[in-house]
Amino acid sequence: MAGHVKHIILDTDPGIDDALAILLALASPEVRLEALTVTMGNCATPQGVNNALSVLELAGATHIPVAPGLDRPLIQPLLTAPETHGSTGLGYARLPPPRQPAASQHAVDLLIERIMAARGEITLVAVAPLTNLALALRREPAIVEAVREVIIMGGAIRHEGNTTPLAEFNVYVDPHAAHIVYHSGLPITLVPLDVTYQCILTQADVDRLLAVDSPITRFVADSTRFYMEFHDEYQGIQGCVINDPLALALTFAPDLVETRPLHVTVDIHSPLSLGKTMADFYGMWAKPPNMQVALNAQPRRFIELFLERIENLARRQS
Ligand code: BDR
Ligand code: CA
Repeated sequence: MAGHVKHIILDTDPGIDDALAILLALASPEVRLEALTVTMGNCATPQGVNNALSVLELAGATHIPVAPGLDRPLIQPLLTAPETHGSTGLGYARLPPPRQPAASQHAVDLLIERIMAARGEITLVAVAPLTNLALALRREPAIVEAVREVIIMGGAIRHEGNTTPLAEFNVYVDPHAAHIVYHSGLPITLVPLDVTYQCILTQADVDRLLAVDSPITRFVADSTRFYMEFHDEYQGIQGCVINDPLALALTFAPDLVETRPLHVTVDIHSPLSLGKTMADFYGMWAKPPNMQVALNAQPRRFIELFLERIENLARRQS
């Protein structure tokens, strides 16, 4: 078993669903979370770093380094999402301030160092704007061949956007970074809103988790209560879309989604459709696929897997 454990770095902007992805990684024996790299997005980078450290402490995983990364997009102005994730990034959850400090290494340096030191071993799961990864690619292009795989939560292919009518949040925050990453030659699996919006965590699911009395289940309930209010108010959805844990789950359960090899790009020119991701389904650009794109998910199987694992983690911690 140990030989098959996947070594994961999570590039994240915690963020409610980012926090759930961290917990899912810690709850999954098939993966070893090597490090978190943080950037801006759901909240500013220093807040995201604190959130990451606090969530690791909540789960008793303080040995995992948290490396602060970029605090602004490459070209676009800073954009955060307090309406979606609350003023601290974690909804109504209030975790104690972290006792552990952040790593002294910059996120971009950590990504390059770890990927190059363990050629073919590191799976990068990127669930935030792609600024850290874009700069890592510019600094050390050889990570393209050295990384094992890159699973990216972002984009809206046939689905409407969640930030503009066309654009998904992670791509919209730094479309230029997404453009660099998409056209880098990295072995990418894209997890767009097309599949994440099929996977809704409901209040009944959270109530089931609360049957295990633990700080972890209370954290999930308090953070997702805010997230559910957002989904109800802005999108008329009962429950919440847990994007980032789905991307994480594909590291050990890739058959949760069906993928298609496609050439995908991102609009970095038009003000109206800035950050729109588009796939060439009919091969009209005559370009080879640059990623596998998830277009269909098994929602209930994923949600059940998520609940079971969080329950187990909570039991271990309570
Ligand atoms: C993505 O944007 C953020 O709000 C979430 O954490 C997720 O990574 C969904 O569009
Ligand atoms: Ca995120």
